[in-house]
Amino acid sequence: MSLAQHHDARLRFQQQVDNSATYVIPFIEERFSLVKGMKIMEIGCGEGGVLRPFMDKGCVAVGVDLVPARIALANDFLQEYVSNEQLRLINKNIYDLDFLGEFKNSFDLIILKDAIEHIPDQEKLMSYLKQLLKPTGTIFLGFPPWYMPHGGHQQICKNKLLSVFPYIHLLPVAVYRGILKGLKEDADTVKELLEIKETGISIERFERILEKNHYSVLHKRFYLINPIYQYKFGWKPRKQSGFIASIPYFRNFVTTCVYYLVQEDKR
Ligand SMILES: C[S@@+](CC[C@H](N)C(=O)[O-])C[C@H]1O[C@@H](n2cnc3c(N)ncnc32)[C@H](O)[C@@H]1O
Repeated sequence: MSLAQHHDARLRFQQQVDNSATYVIPFIEERFSLVKGMKIMEIGCGEGGVLRPFMDKGCVAVGVDLVPARIALANDFLQEYVSNEQLRLINKNIYDLDFLGEFKNSFDLIILKDAIEHIPDQEKLMSYLKQLLKPTGTIFLGFPPWYMPHGGHQQICKNKLLSVFPYIHLLPVAVYRGILKGLKEDADTVKELLEIKETGISIERFERILEKNHYSVLHKRFYLINPIYQYKFGWKPRKQSGFIASIPYFRNFVTTCVYYLVQEDKR
């Protein structure tokens, strides 16, 4: 059941804009003031929709993404911001050796929205981000914990049953690959799903990485129903209960999205 936004980039862009304005920015602003002229970077910006509400508040933005077609769409959807130099869009892997140079100690806020679970070696990533941040810089991260029912992103499958079947991504790699291939998913879909199986991240592993890299958590919120699902499936967003959110490991299986705001602990 590939969803409408999987083949309609304009719709995907608009959903990114709405989700960012309605959920991401209010969450950030509960602990961190967005001020006109602030420099922000989104890593894994896709079509760039997340950035637009930040720019409407006067932030100056850089968006980076690995996929040329997504950066081309962002350039198209956000033309006016690019031409007035409020936005730069870059098609690069953030691990490219020449990426860091000009951006060292540049950003007040870095955003990784539904991106960290696609990027390999998250421990290295969280350490690397410190070099991009200004000394008091802050990072927003939103991601689906790996063990949640659709943490494997199987909703991108063509096969209807596969796309809704919960927890199937937790099968051993060989079995999972065999099922995807046996049900005739495209080679690109199989590749993407197996890559996510390698990079998917749990709440506990994420928090261990924060601790190891000396980040403090300024704010966090867990969702039983991810806000983005209202655009995808028409489901009303719901926060996770405090009790469930406090149960290590189990909470991963029933939490579809987590938001964190973190800052390097300088003490
Ligand atoms: C699921 S999309 C999220 C797009 C957008 N942030 C949103 O919330 O809709 C993840 C994006 O991360 C990008 N990405 C993955 N690894 C990357 C890397 N190493 N460097 C830059 N972008 C990367 C992918 O190309 C993809 O567009």
